[in-house]
Amino acid sequence: MVDSPLALLAELTHRCPLRCPYCSNPKELTRAGAELTTAEWARVFREAAALGCLQIHLSGGEPTARRDIVELVAAARAAGLYTNLITAGVLLDAALMARLVEAGLDHVQLSVQDAEEAGAERIGGMKGAMTRKQAAAALVTASGLPLTLNAVVHRQNLHNLPHLIEIALEWGAGRIEVAHVQYYGWALANRAALLPTRAQLDEATRLVDAARAAHRGRLVIDYVVPDYHAARPKACMGGWGRRFLGVSPAGNILPCHAAESITGMIFPNIRETSLAAAWADSPAFNAFRGTAWMPKPCQGCEHAERDWGGCRCQAFALTGEAAATDPACALSPHHGLLADALADAGETAFRYREFS
Ligand code: SF4
Ligand code: FES
Repeated sequence: MVDSPLALLAELTHRCPLRCPYCSNPKELTRAGAELTTAEWARVFREAAALGCLQIHLSGGEPTARRDIVELVAAARAAGLYTNLITAGVLLDAALMARLVEAGLDHVQLSVQDAEEAGAERIGGMKGAMTRKQAAAALVTASGLPLTLNAVVHRQNLHNLPHLIEIALEWGAGRIEVAHVQYYGWALANRAALLPTRAQLDEATRLVDAARAAHRGRLVIDYVVPDYHAARPKACMGGWGRRFLGVSPAGNILPCHAAESITGMIFPNIRETSLAAAWADSPAFNAFRGTAWMPKPCQGCEHAERDWGGCRCQAFALTGEAAATDPACALSPHHGLLADALADAGETAFRYREFS
């Protein structure tokens, strides 16, 4: 018996005015003309709610690059979903904010690339982005919606972690997610420039613990650590096909936002099937569900139902085998690949993705 998914990630578009070197967009971007229409997305939202999803994350790319973003929020609300907008904030103005609130938006997650304008410009590749983000945060809090800051951290901005936490307090966020980069797609291409040192990671963890204690009751700090310094992998997506459902801009139904990085895997498309059928019966969702598919040493391991064998996208990216034990696990025969990557880290030049 397959459980219901809890949340839907709707990647509305791959278009975005920023070009972060750890972008979660695939290397092959969906063109605007191939994106799902407003009516198709509304059907996805209704089907997600019927399947048991409680929340929807409207994401991208930059979701406000869709001209119909207000209609999409209204459609998600009409489907009965708690609606979260994950945005870079640089396209948000007072008029759009008012329309989003009126349409029923529940929550905003705003990304920040660094704690200072120069670093934010260098990482996100957009002039003046930080000032616009601060203005967006003010619009969100003035509207009465809860605000979360998403701070992706890495070798080149970790020194500013205390300042990022201060910004969350100054801008009125109730929560900040301090997330170390996860290395697939673009982040893997830029890994040498982004991987933190062990000392940086330990200092970041110490700072987060201290800030949690100092700001208890005022600011919640979520913390996502990088696998590369770990001995055990994370339970990526809470286990493949267990909790999470994503839909790409072109309508592919995905067990993980990065699943299309696993080349050769065929994903069902919302234009050809229903979310319920894809979730329950598709080969893609069933490929790594549960524990029966696991190779040794995962097979029979006492952690198998805790971490579900780690991350399939990372296993594929590092070993070429999506079914391999995640190399982040010290028991994996490929664990040495992570030590090699750490030894190579230290370059400072990014490769940015290009938009045409
Ligand atoms: Fe997890 Fe597999 Fe490592 Fe066991 S062997 S800890 S199940 S990744
Ligand atoms: Fe895809 Fe971990 S990112 S399974």
